[in-house]
Amino acid sequence: MSFNHCGRSGLKLPAISLGLWHNFGGVDPYETGRRIVRRAFDAGITHFDLANNYGPPGGSAEINFGRMLATDFKSLRDEMIISTKAGYYMWPGPYGDGGSRKYLISSLDKSLQRMGLDYVDIFYHHRFDQDTPLEETMMALDHIVRQGKALYVGLSNYSAEQTEEAVAILRKLGTPCLIHQPRYSMLDRHVEESLLDVLDKHGIGCIAYSPLAQGMLTDRYLKGIPEDSRAGKSTGFLKKEDIKPDILQRILKLNDVARERGQSLAQMAIVWLLKDPRVTSVLVGASSIQQLENNLQALDHKHFEQAELDKINQLLN
Ligand SMILES: NC(=O)c1ccc[n+]([C@@H]2O[C@H](COP(=O)([O-])OP(=O)(O)OC[C@H]3O[C@@H](n4cnc5c(N)ncnc54)[C@H](OP(=O)(O)O)[C@@H]3O)[C@@H](O)[C@H]2O)c1
Repeated sequence: MSFNHCGRSGLKLPAISLGLWHNFGGVDPYETGRRIVRRAFDAGITHFDLANNYGPPGGSAEINFGRMLATDFKSLRDEMIISTKAGYYMWPGPYGDGGSRKYLISSLDKSLQRMGLDYVDIFYHHRFDQDTPLEETMMALDHIVRQGKALYVGLSNYSAEQTEEAVAILRKLGTPCLIHQPRYSMLDRHVEESLLDVLDKHGIGCIAYSPLAQGMLTDRYLKGIPEDSRAGKSTGFLKKEDIKPDILQRILKLNDVARERGQSLAQMAIVWLLKDPRVTSVLVGASSIQQLENNLQALDHKHFEQAELDKINQLLN
């Protein structure tokens, strides 16, 4: 595994991190998830990403991960970077969603209980909340760090403008923003417009989520929609309708480019993101050990010829 400094901070993150959004909830086989997490750590993936609402049901991924920590990683806490988030709906009533101080602080307390932890390494506000003053949300993040319940804070799904504003408030409070977690893949390049520049300017790291477009940038859907795939399952966030014919056509062509490079499409999609030095880590998901192994091997072939990049750009535009 290679490690990159997260922006201009002292914290290094693995080039590939593992997310527990899907495949680690109460509806998923626990032992499969446990094997994936164990294999990931053994391969040098030190960073595991969660959120209060991961499951389903919401909270169950943190409960399962807490179980793994207790049985398999007891003495390894200092070798791990664990993140969680709050910002989406978590519990009924006005205090279980959004960006209020009330929600963020109580949600992190619940996350820590579920995982059996005293602190997380990174706590994120999961999405911008236009109904809460940004000062209140950022003061809650600052407070959480001062309480010792998180070592660093991050933002997720904030636009470039919202990030600029939030970063300035955090800096004034004395708790710098460590990292931003946007969606970024070959099929969604919105961060290239201005967010990556903003992060670079302020020395903030970037961890790209859904780098495989939830599985579309792999061989998963090349021959139809398998029943056990994210799009095939009723609990998945990806829907059958998302696998549109025009996207599939593009994926087939990208798959050819990957094959010519001697790697899988998933591997090419991962290193294509890592070629930008502003990207600290690529946050993958996996439903099997085989997928994880395949993704890890991406790092064996990182270099792109200009002709390959041109070809990919042509297919993406
Ligand atoms: N901040 C946010 O708002 C936000 C939002 C979304 C995600 N995230 C974070 O990002 C993480 C990753 O997101 P994601 O799961 O959407 O990432 P992804 O890596 O784009 O998709 C993962 C899915 O792709 C398929 N896959 C992975 N490797 C494969 C391979 N080598 N060959 C074939 N198929 C492969 C699997 O699908 P199957 O299940 O079909 O096998 C797997 O579940 C999440 O766990 C979470 O931590 C954050």
